[in-house]
Parts: sequence; C-alpha cells; structure tokens
Amino acid sequence: MTSQTKPIDFKSANQMRTFQKHESEVRGYCRSFPTLFDTAKGCIMTDVNGVEYLDFLSGAGSLNYGHNDPDMKAGLLEYLQKDGIGHSLDMHSVAKARFIDVFTRVILKPRGLEYRMQFTGPTGTNSVEAAIKLARKITGRKQIIAFTNGFHGVTQGALACTGNTHHRSPTASTLCGVDRYPYDGYLGEGVDTTAYLEKMLNDKSSGQDAPAAILVEGVQGEGGLNPASASWLKNLAKVAKGAGALLILDDIQAGVGRAGRFFSFEEAGIQPDMVCLSKSLSGMGLPFAVTLIRPDLDFWKPGEHNGTFRGNNHAFITASVAIEKYWANPAFQQGIEQRAKVVTESLQRMLKNSPTVAVELRGKGMMQGIALHSGDLADEVVAACFKHH
Ligand SMILES: Cc1ncc(COP(=O)(O)O)c(C=O)c1O
Repeated sequence: MTSQTKPIDFKSANQMRTFQKHESEVRGYCRSFPTLFDTAKGCIMTDVNGVEYLDFLSGAGSLNYGHNDPDMKAGLLEYLQKDGIGHSLDMHSVAKARFIDVFTRVILKPRGLEYRMQFTGPTGTNSVEAAIKLARKITGRKQIIAFTNGFHGVTQGALACTGNTHHRSPTASTLCGVDRYPYDGYLGEGVDTTAYLEKMLNDKSSGQDAPAAILVEGVQGEGGLNPASASWLKNLAKVAKGAGALLILDDIQAGVGRAGRFFSFEEAGIQPDMVCLSKSLSGMGLPFAVTLIRPDLDFWKPGEHNGTFRGNNHAFITASVAIEKYWANPAFQQGIEQRAKVVTESLQRMLKNSPTVAVELRGKGMMQGIALHSGDLADEVVAACFKHH
C-alpha cells in the first residue's frame, strides 16, 4: 500500500491535517470544537478517542429532539431496509403522503391553521428564497421589510434580508430590495417599533416603497436570542395587512418547539401568510425545509420554482415519526414548558453568580442564554466548556 492510499489514522495526533489541507477556509464551528466526532446519542457527542461532550450547539437548532432518537432511527432503518424510495424530485411518494397527513392532522388542524406545503430545496435559506419570491410575484412589489439582527440564510435573497455584516460583506454591494427596521426591543424597553414602521408605510413622502412582504423571526436566534413579544407580533401582523404586504414568519430556528410551542407565533394568535420551517423539522438532523403558504396565496405555476432536492423522503419518514411520537402527546408540550423553567432558573443563578462577566438573560423556551460583556469573553467561555466537556 502506498502512502497515498494509506487510510487515515483517525486516532493519530495529526487527524486535523486532513481538514486543514483539503477543506476550505470557510469552515467555522470546527475551529471552536477541534476534535473528530464519531457518534452521538441524545445530548452527548463522542469523539474518536471516546471523549464525551455535552452538545450545547444542537446543530444550531436542528436537533431539538437530540441525536439519533431510537424511534426515528428505527423508522428510517425500516424504510431503507424495504428499499423505500430515496430520491423522487417532487413526485408523489408514500413517505411524502405520510408527512403531509401527520403534519396536517397533528400540527396544523389543532392550531386552527390551514396552509399549502411547498417543499423547497432542503435548507432553511431555500424556504426563505421561495417565500420572498412568491410574495414579490403575488404583490408585484419588490421591497421586503426585514429587521435589525435578523438572520435568514446566506443565499442572495435571504442574505439581503440578513443583518450580519460578517455574512453580508463578501457580496454586500449586490444585496438589494430590502428595507431594514428596528426589531422589538432594539430601541429599548417600552418602544413599540411597529409604530415607526406603520408611520413610514402610511406616509407617502417617507421614501418607503410599498413592500411585498415583511419577513420576521418570532425569536431571533443567530441575532442574539431576542424574542419578539406577542403584542409586537400582533401589531406587526396588523401593520402588514394595512400595507397590503404579506407577513412571512421565519420559524426555521425558533420553530418545532424551540421557543416553547411548535410555532413561535402561537402565543400572538396570528396566522402569518407564509411560514418557513427547516432545521429540527426532520427530527434527526436530515436536510429538509418547507414553506407553508396560505391556500389562497398559492400563486405558483407548476415547476415555476424548483430544485432537485425538493422534499427528502428519508426526512419525511423521520419527521413523521417525530411529530407522531412527540407532538401528538399533549404532555410533550407541557414538558417543554417545565424544562424551559429549569433552564431559566439555572441561567438566572449563573447570572447572579457572575456579575463581572454576564450582562443579562436572553431568549425564550429552550432558546435561552446569557449575554456576556463581549464576544471575546463568549469565545473564552465556549473554549472552557469544550475543554471541560
Ligand atoms: C431564522 C433562520 N432562518 C434561516 C436560516 C438559514 O437556514 P440554513 O442555514 O439551513 O440555510 C437560519 C439558520 O441559522 C435561521 O436561524
């Protein structure tokens, strides 16, 4: 065997060289967690040397149920074993029919929601692109209203709606068609920023063109765990309606129970015109996204917005198991509330015990954290947690 064909010794000290030599500089999370992960179960990830790590990252909100849930795994293995269809473009499959049935019956109907499902390309940004494109098609308008600290993905349209300079800067000059307004809380407590937006939209001399859509997260994840209040979301829905703009709720990170309920907007009692879901929807970390569309707004022509990987049959299976196993059981919802309380209480204790480094508690439900005085300090905490597993 020549050295070129020699298999990598995964346990050697040089294991990281493979990535450094062959993988693009764009790699990110692996720089904070420099080991070679091999297996994972529940909230524990194990590396090749058998070291176990408590997984706080959770696939950036893609693993709400933990790693390798035994029932989802069994469902998927059974499907693979019977040669269940893996790839079928957007053709009908039994797996897709099962997901549509389960999602409608367990998630939408009990919440009084009615949506058509557009299975987009498999990542969150695909769902956002579909939603903003459809809003522009329906309204004939170009502008999208997005918010400070919003994160919606890194493809061109979604990136234009994203606030973060680090992500925007490589193509910032080409990002267009978006007007940015202050999110809830951005101007301090007690300021309802929807009033400013409403004024701008109603003033024919404000310079604000009529928007096709207002795109918003119920809880901002990447932007710093900022929850919008129920009253702010309610007001926003009214402002959107008044302006003839469609309300697109990006629930890609805060949805599927992360913010407490299945949808982050449930407490506000609103029905967004479109909802973007991905991340934890598959239940098992498989790539899968959907754009939910109010039925009367489904203006698409056949194939007008397409993609090779629309709907992932394996994810249809695991998502159906996840919804049936967890969401069909009302005790699960209560369990999230109880667990969120435990998180709040322990974070409050940490906050109290670390006044020199910690600023405030942020977030909602299972999406909570402590804001520190600086990003550098946060990096130090991440490194210390990683070191101590
Ligand atoms: C709210 C929100 N929208 C969209 C996206 C983009 O999803 P993806 O990275 O799967 O394209 C993310 C990713 O973090 C997100 O948090």
